[in-house]
Amino acid sequence: MLPEKPSKNMTIREIIRRTTQRLEAAGIDSARLDAEVLLSFFLNCDRTQLFKNYEEQMTRDQLGAFDKLIVRRLSFEPVAYITGRKEFWSFTLEVNRDVLIPRPDTEIIVEEAIGVCRSAGCSRPQILDIGTGSGAIALALAREIPDARVTATDVSAAALEVAKSNARTFGLEDRVSFILGDLFENVSGTFDLITSNPPYIGAAEYDTLASGVKDFEPRLALWAGETGLEFYEKLIYQAHGRLREKGWLLLEIGAKQHEMIHSLMMVHNDSYRDIAVRADYAGLPRVIRGRRE
Ligand SMILES: C[S@@+](CC[C@H](N)C(=O)[O-])C[C@H]1O[C@@H](n2cnc3c(N)ncnc32)[C@H](O)[C@@H]1O
Repeated sequence: MLPEKPSKNMTIREIIRRTTQRLEAAGIDSARLDAEVLLSFFLNCDRTQLFKNYEEQMTRDQLGAFDKLIVRRLSFEPVAYITGRKEFWSFTLEVNRDVLIPRPDTEIIVEEAIGVCRSAGCSRPQILDIGTGSGAIALALAREIPDARVTATDVSAAALEVAKSNARTFGLEDRVSFILGDLFENVSGTFDLITSNPPYIGAAEYDTLASGVKDFEPRLALWAGETGLEFYEKLIYQAHGRLREKGWLLLEIGAKQHEMIHSLMMVHNDSYRDIAVRADYAGLPRVIRGRRE
């Protein structure tokens, strides 16, 4: 089982091959990619540099230090928590175990939000992102809509620290403000656009989550009561009073929840118009939107 206790120097080529074997043996699907990402993180280079330097050797001391990262991955800790970073939209965001690792699917809500803002011709739009986590949605919108003012909330103070740090890194702290609170608590004013990717895992699904999610990502970011709909009920009900006329509510949804959430929005049919569901690139329902009448 190399390179668990390396007895000699090894080339980058050998390390990648043997690390991939160890990760595969543990049942990690993305073994080769993870081996390369972790090694490039460890060597502080990009992945292409690894291939250019395939025959370079790493010392036993280096191998011992690298092995500590692999042991973490073997326990199913997500790569993003080991490296402390994750690509989202046009950023590499800082992440830690206080925040959900932003998913590529969440870029759909960013695309939709930009689309509705542009088609509504909003100037200086006020945007609210509820449950901002690492700040992924809020910061992407602030970057893409340069005259927007964005308010980002979370009930987790630790998550907000990560989001604020990301805002500083990307020079967006002047246009994004952060509020600690439960949903709309402590938020004042009204908004042209409200976005949220709320927790949406119900009891039955929670038990089936992969270990890398359930054992490492914050329960606060995932758990949404017995049915998984708890946050949608509150958001759909409360957002109406916080939207400006013709303002949009956009929610990320779990793939199997769209009919229930669509019904919830229809129940508030006097409140929302132009309700529509957008699928992600895998064809699964991913975002629901509705406009305040
Ligand atoms: C699914 S994560 C989404 C994080 C981020 N927006 C993203 O898309 O990557 C949900 C977030 O909602 C936050 N949250 C949970 N309950 C909340 C509440 N009652 N009020 C505000 N935020 C809450 C969690 O702390 C977490 O950051």
